[in-house]
Amino acid sequence: MTGLAVFCSGSGTNLAAIIRAVRRRQIPSAIRLVVSDRAEAYALVRARRAGIPTLSLPPHDFSSQASYERALIRALERARVRYIALAGFMRILSPAFVRRYRWRILNIHPALLPAFPGAHAVRDALAACARVTGVTVHLVDEGVDTGPIVLQETVRVLPRDTEAKLLARLHRVEHRLYPRALRELVEGRLRVDRGRVKFAAQSRR
Ligand code: GRF
Repeated sequence: MTGLAVFCSGSGTNLAAIIRAVRRRQIPSAIRLVVSDRAEAYALVRARRAGIPTLSLPPHDFSSQASYERALIRALERARVRYIALAGFMRILSPAFVRRYRWRILNIHPALLPAFPGAHAVRDALAACARVTGVTVHLVDEGVDTGPIVLQETVRVLPRDTEAKLLARLHRVEHRLYPRALRELVEGRLRVDRGRVKFAAQSRR
């Protein structure tokens, strides 16, 4: 069974959706580690309750990003992790880390990339008076929110939307879309050809 790690900084509702999908065998993988850069992240509580090993790595415990990522890689290798799902992880991974896990890291973003990248996508979509926003799952490259797009789905912005209301509807879509994309990833079906994701019919494994 291929090993998966989920990186989170916050509440971990996407982590919960991934845990459910793994239990239902919709994702043929085992979550071997949940990593957080914040010891107080509720995602860690969810992981422990599900019996998944956790690693809390606060950046201020390390002298540099390189030493931080060395510790991270050691833990991932010990846990025999092949694929990584970023689920609300608020740290930017270095190009060296991304290259080491080339096309094996997925991210989920609460907007239709390339629109509204960055940490305030929901607020930015509302401020821009967008009529439509959505969810993007993409492979991670060396940029921020720039990697090849795997799946996207639109969500309408309603006239009386607040950030909380819109986020709640985006989350519902995220919790459906992320497990689907992860399944494609761990089954080895995602190929990248000139920046575009191709879904291969047959597994590479
Ligand atoms: C999600 O909205 C995701 O798109 C973004 O961070 C949020 C994480 O939420 N990258 P949760 O911790 O999974 O509830």
